[in-house]
Amino acid sequence: MTRTVYVNGDYLPEGEAKVSIFDRGFLMADGVYEVTSVLDGKLIDFDGHVKRLWRSLAELEMTCPVGEADLLAMHRELVARNGIEQGMIYLQVTRGNPGDRSFLFPAADLPGTIVAFTQDIPNMADAPAAKTGLKVITIPDLRWSRVDIKTVQLLYPSMGKMAAKKAGVDDSWFTDEAGAVTEGTSNNAWIVKGNRIITRALGNDILHGITRAAVLRFAREAQFEVEERAFTPEEAHGADEAFSTAASLFVMPVVEVDGKPVGTGKPGPVATRLREIYLDEMRKAAI
Ligand code: PDD
Repeated sequence: MTRTVYVNGDYLPEGEAKVSIFDRGFLMADGVYEVTSVLDGKLIDFDGHVKRLWRSLAELEMTCPVGEADLLAMHRELVARNGIEQGMIYLQVTRGNPGDRSFLFPAADLPGTIVAFTQDIPNMADAPAAKTGLKVITIPDLRWSRVDIKTVQLLYPSMGKMAAKKAGVDDSWFTDEAGAVTEGTSNNAWIVKGNRIITRALGNDILHGITRAAVLRFAREAQFEVEERAFTPEEAHGADEAFSTAASLFVMPVVEVDGKPVGTGKPGPVATRLREIYLDEMRKAAI
């Protein structure tokens, strides 16, 4: 089935969707994005994703060509037209097409470009990786210092995924100059020690994950102690468990860091339970 995608107000077959070569998203990576997961044909934490989109746009003095209610309607339309039961919706907003290349921002009234498309992942909730866990390596975090803004500048995260692939593992976790883990290439990083769940505090050096926020809430409700602080790869080696969170992963156990097993080297009970709680609760709240 040909995918139907959304471009600036139109629903089109993917092969007919076009954006200008002068678009600042293409020339300058001057754009932001969101990825919202879909379960049972419904959107997971849409409200959280829209709030973060508004924040990313505001940080870059951009506006969204489409309001919140229309964004929701458009997401639902894409789910319906493409028959998505499980998967993701990718949404991107750029500063638009000024008609030429210039480093300066165009006038604020230039309409931005907005595109969205679906990714069909029929077994997303039952991903086999959730049973085996991910292996990660750590690499220096060489991204710019405003990664709290969800921009489309994903070259270094792509290089991080390639470094992992070349090393025969699943992902890379980034480390800062002090040697502490910031986050994964496209996810937030966590460790578990006894009843304590540890993940880096919010700042400009990590993306403020929507899944992270929900998991923190569920962890507190389940009586875990939560510590929002940095941890090192060495601390991960001595932890009972580790996991990554993202709209694309939900809660995903991490069983090896830099070739050393975490805990038993198998997905642990805490990550497994948090994944179950996350999926149950988010399914109930899906819209
Ligand atoms: N990535 N950190 C980074 C660098 C990310 O790119 C992402 C999401 C996250 C997790 O955020 P959330 O829980 O809101 O998905 C953390 C998306 C899924 C992606 O780029 O595909």
